[in-house]
Amino acid sequence: MAPLESLIRTMITRDGPITVEQFMDLALAHPEHGYYHARDAIGRGGDFTTAPEISQMFGEMLGLWAGVVWQQMGSPDQVQLVEIGPGRGTLMVDMVRAAKSVPGFVEALDIRLVETSARLRAAQHAALPDDTVHWHDDLDGVPDGPAIIVANEFLDALPVQQIVRKADAAWHERQVALDTDDQLIFAVADSPTTPPPNFDAPPGAIFERSARRAEATTAIATKLLSETGAALVIDYGHTRSAPGNTLQAVRDHRPHPVLADPGLADLTSHVDFEAIRNVCESAGATPHGPLAQGRFLSRIGIEARAGLLMKNASSGAAQDIESALHRLIDNDAMGALFKVLAMTPPGAPVPPGFETMTAAGKPT
Ligand SMILES: C[S@@+](CC[C@H](N)C(=O)[O-])C[C@H]1O[C@@H](n2cnc3c(N)ncnc32)[C@H](O)[C@@H]1O
Repeated sequence: MAPLESLIRTMITRDGPITVEQFMDLALAHPEHGYYHARDAIGRGGDFTTAPEISQMFGEMLGLWAGVVWQQMGSPDQVQLVEIGPGRGTLMVDMVRAAKSVPGFVEALDIRLVETSARLRAAQHAALPDDTVHWHDDLDGVPDGPAIIVANEFLDALPVQQIVRKADAAWHERQVALDTDDQLIFAVADSPTTPPPNFDAPPGAIFERSARRAEATTAIATKLLSETGAALVIDYGHTRSAPGNTLQAVRDHRPHPVLADPGLADLTSHVDFEAIRNVCESAGATPHGPLAQGRFLSRIGIEARAGLLMKNASSGAAQDIESALHRLIDNDAMGALFKVLAMTPPGAPVPPGFETMTAAGKPT
């Protein structure tokens, strides 16, 4: 049995069921047995592959995006390039390489990585041996200053609360309990909890909300407001808040039962981008989007970048570039499920890719 499962069983036997949110928090972030501390999660040899691990083009496009944002900010002498949840450091390496094509940008960069996993910090250090790179436990630890912030597949790694509509029409917290054979099972709390905004959902419907994702979004918005800059948040999720159970576990690149082997499988849920937009606005910043990832990457020129790389590649390598491009932008791959949301201080220029959005954030 996974060591964390044994700990969780003991907790439940002693104190009663835990919430889904607590289960997810323990599974991902337990200081010894949590997933990001205990496993090599990302890449072919891990459990899942992220966009920067699919192709250098992803990070390069984000690096060029950041370069234009820096120019929109008036090309300050120093700008923080902050990445939250940087994984193996691949995205930052590719961003910095592309940043070199924007005159003066690399010289202005002050790179800051926000990472809680010691194991991934070591991987990031190997990818970015430059001793001017700084690591932080959270965004609050990053000093004040103009900042460009990126977070790819970070919010989905923060725990989510699940609430269930019962036949009495009230909403109740979804929990993790033990059955008579001592196996982990889902349960529902007896007493009701705060309902979600007005949804006409049938009994049994599940709604997900995340205080931790809201806190992280507020921290990003607050940092932008204290100086200037822009942020880009990319994740899989939905544009409108709606009921639905999106909790999922992945191990060895395959779906895994959610309650099995806590700490040994990745556990995530889709990001509710309407909720993130609302939090951003409540904090006083301006949200742009979300745009579907495929649309965003096309708008900032990924096809042209792919064409250039393919021109200088062998035919085998050119095929790989083309298939990576399709994986990133096609609607039946990552192009539609993944969304991109930008945030700026109010009145700041609209960041690249988000021009001609309506007031409701929809592209015209
Ligand atoms: C799904 S991985 C994404 C990695 C990377 N952005 C990529 O695209 O390959 C999630 C990342 O967020 C980090 N992480 C998880 N919880 C965090 C937290 N509370 N604060 C900072 N980083 C966190 C993980 O350690 C990991 O680096």
